[in-house]
Amino acid sequence: MMEMDSLCFSGSWSEQDYQEMQAQPTYRNWLLKLPGAGQVGMLVFQSVPPELQILRLAVHPEWRGKGLAVFMLDKLEMQAKMDNLESLWLEVHSANKPARALYFKEGFQQISCRKNYYQRPPGDSFLLIKLLKQC
Ligand SMILES: CC(C)(COP(=O)(O)OP(=O)(O)OC[C@H]1O[C@@H](n2cnc3c(N)ncnc32)[C@H](O)[C@@H]1OP(=O)(O)O)[C@@H](O)C(=O)NCCC(=O)NCCS
Repeated sequence: MMEMDSLCFSGSWSEQDYQEMQAQPTYRNWLLKLPGAGQVGMLVFQSVPPELQILRLAVHPEWRGKGLAVFMLDKLEMQAKMDNLESLWLEVHSANKPARALYFKEGFQQISCRKNYYQRPPGDSFLLIKLLKQC
């Protein structure tokens, strides 16, 4: 996970971050592997019914633009529905155009904005949510 993390994020999580996270029963890490290619994607999320929060979603730089992020989000949504969860949510940097386009394409909606939330790089945080069923 850490290898993918440092390849894909400027503020990567440390080994301690991952160990602390894995000690919590609500967290899950998924690594997407392709035969002959190895690790190509990662997804980290926290499931606290009735919500699931996406904490990390990334695709290896050489494997982007091939639908792998959509594939992982579709699998996640399927799992969340099987677990009877009501919504998926996440926070995304306002300057992260690829991620914002991905989430909007996948049916997420922006419900709020935290001004100047991020420092490196500076920017706002957008809170996005996808309802899986009407509450
Ligand atoms: C965001 C990220 C996960 C997308 O992964 P991906 O596998 O390339 O995405 P997909 O191929 O599934 O693309 C699905 C949609 O996302 C959007 N998208 C993906 N890359 C894009 C880009 N560079 N520019 C604009 N839109 C983009 C498009 O809407 C695309 O649909 P389309 O192909 O029909 O145009 C990837 O760029 C990444 O790992 N970025 C670094 C980590 C990160 O920022 N994660 C998000 C944190 S919240």
